[in-house]
Amino acid sequence: MERTPQWPEEMEGQVRAFVEMRCRYQAALTEVKTKLDILNDEFRVRYSRNPIHHMESRVKEPSSIAGKLRRKGYEPTVENAMKHLWDIAGVRVVCAYRDDVYAIAHLLTSQDDIRLLRTRDYIKTPKANGYRSLHLIVEIPVFLSTGKQYLPVEVQIRTIAMDFWASLEHRIRYKVDLEVPEDLNRELYDAAQRIAEVDSDMQRIHDRMAALADKNGVDTPPRPPHMD
Ligand code: GTP
Ligand code: MG
Repeated sequence: MERTPQWPEEMEGQVRAFVEMRCRYQAALTEVKTKLDILNDEFRVRYSRNPIHHMESRVKEPSSIAGKLRRKGYEPTVENAMKHLWDIAGVRVVCAYRDDVYAIAHLLTSQDDIRLLRTRDYIKTPKANGYRSLHLIVEIPVFLSTGKQYLPVEVQIRTIAMDFWASLEHRIRYKVDLEVPEDLNRELYDAAQRIAEVDSDMQRIHDRMAALADKNGVDTPPRPPHMD
């Protein structure tokens, strides 16, 4: 039986190239997630707690890749995607406490096969709308039949509280096809401030308990260097 081509013949090459590209970025994502899983497991064994509450990850869909390239003024090709987009592979790491965010960032980026390409610290300097998160772009080697290739992965690290705000804000802003009125923007900003205060409270409570545990001879992790 003859196979009916899904795409016009002249597009077959590009479609195949897109599928291969996603596969490579998926591999890069798996590598980064494995590193994060290992760090989380080690913390559990050594310090009896998990710094990572949960992770979400995705490889950008071809239609979003094409859309983003067009918005940036580039033709939607695999070459342009690999050259101009750093968020084809993305992982969101949701941590318990603010110090965990910096600890995880430090432990990941100090591994010697990881290259740090960019840091945006929206915790130290929140966005004007109140958004908080630590964004890293790291490059990781992927070993393929054709050789070794470094690929970028966007790593967003934030606390449960920051994630709570960002998830709802995203739904409010993007799922409704309406401009958010100025007074509601102000309320969203104020909510982000209050949530940041709660994060500070929880960190302090945790630190006090950790200090008590320390006195009782329980190992506590070293304080992370805050990233500048
Ligand atoms: P993009 O073109 O959106 O990828 O932005 P960028 O390359 O300038 O990077 P940036 O680090 O500013 O943001 C990247 C990602 O962070 C976005 O795709 C969102 O997932 C998240 N993000 C950034 N700003 C906000 C925000 O104000 N609200 C929410 N909910 N998420 C945000
Ligand atoms: Mg993005």
